[in-house]
Amino acid sequence: MAGSGTTLDDYTDRYAQRVRGMTASEIRALFAVANRPEVVSLAGGAPYVSALPLDAVGEMLNRIAVDHGASTLQYGVGQGTVELREHICEVMAGSGIDGDMGASPEDVVVTVGGQQAIDLVARLFLDPGDVVLAEGPTYVGALGAFQAAQARVVHVPMDDDGLIPEALETAIADVAAAGHRAKFLYTIPTYQNPAGVTLTEERRQRVLDICEAAGLLVVEDDPYGQLGFAGEPPAPLRARRRDGVFYLSTFSKTFAPGFRVGWVLAPHAVREKLVIASEAQILCPSAYAQAAVTAYLSTMPWREQLKSYQEIYRERRDAMLTALADLMPDGTRWTRPDGGLFVWATLPDGLNAKEMVPRALRERVAYVPGTGFYADGDGTANLRLNFSFSAPDRIREGIRRLAGVVEQELATRSVFGEVPTIPGRSEAPGSLLDVAEIGAPAVEGESAS
Ligand SMILES: Cc1ncc(COP(=O)(O)O)c(C=O)c1O
Repeated sequence: MAGSGTTLDDYTDRYAQRVRGMTASEIRALFAVANRPEVVSLAGGAPYVSALPLDAVGEMLNRIAVDHGASTLQYGVGQGTVELREHICEVMAGSGIDGDMGASPEDVVVTVGGQQAIDLVARLFLDPGDVVLAEGPTYVGALGAFQAAQARVVHVPMDDDGLIPEALETAIADVAAAGHRAKFLYTIPTYQNPAGVTLTEERRQRVLDICEAAGLLVVEDDPYGQLGFAGEPPAPLRARRRDGVFYLSTFSKTFAPGFRVGWVLAPHAVREKLVIASEAQILCPSAYAQAAVTAYLSTMPWREQLKSYQEIYRERRDAMLTALADLMPDGTRWTRPDGGLFVWATLPDGLNAKEMVPRALRERVAYVPGTGFYADGDGTANLRLNFSFSAPDRIREGIRRLAGVVEQELATRSVFGEVPTIPGRSEAPGSLLDVAEIGAPAVEGESAS
């Protein structure tokens, strides 16, 4: 039921300073309409959890409650259970972050998803006005966490090989020349969200060296590293350097986001502070969810499941790339991810992906406009396209509809010059209301990530 009362905010002059810049992300505003069944949504970031053996997962969950309810339905400890932290170390060892690299259960802090991991690091290191360097574009939830910490994000451009080291050097120098000091580099080096690109082997060491020389911490966010379809990705940054690198990950994409279990591997000296900050936020991560992930990792064929996710996503990625190549008008460009969940597309010159959203929704296709992934309004020509959630034929249909919209925009532009914008309608959240009359609400929800 819709809430009652006025939408006018009487509390404006009482909010804390940090609330000032808080606005709904473009992705959140999109979901009201993108979730309707007749809309092909390429907008979400949801893994395809229907691929899990749901009956077996259900039995597993039942046993956790029946056999171990006295502990799993209780409060737990702030750092997370030892059993899960040990399993997390086994998972990380698989990508080279092992005991030799100083990874130990002692230094792992279990979090409520990868999102809390980012928020914790932001709370620990960012004062208002501090600078964070991050790839441009970057994960929208990280932008939210940095904004809540009243930090300023300076983007570092990428190309098909990931973050550009020379651009990182320039950004560090520019920030210093402006009298600021960047606190850390937030990076998603492998199968990046939203760009889908991967930092190459050669560049990884350079990026670490540049950060070390500049005294910059590295916050490596790696939710997708195990979701590759073209062989092994380069080893994580944390597998190459232990000092000054925070490693963040989550079971949201490799198992299921519903459990909300992620983690931080922190330098030893910082771990205690992370636990204290986490306790102040959440007391402790859910004991039941941790037991579920622990049981999943110890009693179920999770590596096989990972393979099945990889195969499904490869097929869907291929469907998207083929459809883009077959159907998109000339002048459209896109990345070719070797893993993860997203393709990042660039529209032909002069087109604006944000202004195109209402038109796309009328044609019953949804995507996330690129501006949501920048702190500075960049990304107007870009769209993020998700390929994990929809079946290959739906993906093709979605791209067919999208291509039609782009063609219409190009045709309009060839007649009128610049595509006309209606004053006051260029802000995506407001303009989405104009298309809210499409169909009935969908039953299935979608993640806003
Ligand atoms: C790069 C990145 N980091 C963190 C997260 C958050 O993960 P979680 O759902 O575990 O909070 C996401 C989710 O999409 C993500 O893409």
